[in-house]
Amino acid sequence: MKLGVLISGGGSNLQAIIDACESKKINAEIPIVISNNKTAYGLKRAENHGIKAICIDPIEYPDRERYDTKILEHLREHEIDLLILAGYMRLIGKPLLPAYAGRAMNIHPSLLPAFSGTNAIKDAYDYGAKITGVTVHFVDKGMDTGPIILQESCHISDNDTVEALAEKIHSIEHRLYPEAIKLFCEGKLKLEERKVKIIK
Ligand code: GRF
Repeated sequence: MKLGVLISGGGSNLQAIIDACESKKINAEIPIVISNNKTAYGLKRAENHGIKAICIDPIEYPDRERYDTKILEHLREHEIDLLILAGYMRLIGKPLLPAYAGRAMNIHPSLLPAFSGTNAIKDAYDYGAKITGVTVHFVDKGMDTGPIILQESCHISDNDTVEALAEKIHSIEHRLYPEAIKLFCEGKLKLEERKVKIIK
């Protein structure tokens, strides 16, 4: 299996996926990492592991469809089977989304559908939720709305700070995302409308 990863920032989830591939926990390779942000530290992480890392600058492609076409060209060139969004801060649309329907995943730092959007950890904390967590889901055209693959909860205790909560969430993410990718690579995910069945 060949994974293509889209990032916008630090890339700690990318790192967890690289590590899982290198240690053969996941039977896959990562031929390319693409960022919309040239200063994303995740690009450096990819380069450190000999992975092709490029930035496609939205300023050069202000038209969304042209931007996503450019990404798709790179994914096709590298024969990518599964598209991984790892802290990628843009929605994907035509023609990329239909080309990767059922083959594109995202990770979100809350128990969806609660606290969708870009500030999920702080939103759950500020709301006073007692439980939050992590969701890995297939990507559809909405924001954080696709079929759920895996979820794991964590408690927000009275003496948690938002930073402590973020740390708990990220350590779950770094375990859960590779696990979901592994299931996909082993052909164990079956999508039935919006339900994802895990084949034992
Ligand atoms: C993660 O919390 C992920 O759930 C969210 O964006 C963050 C990306 O972090 N979608 P990193 O770039 O993988 O460190």
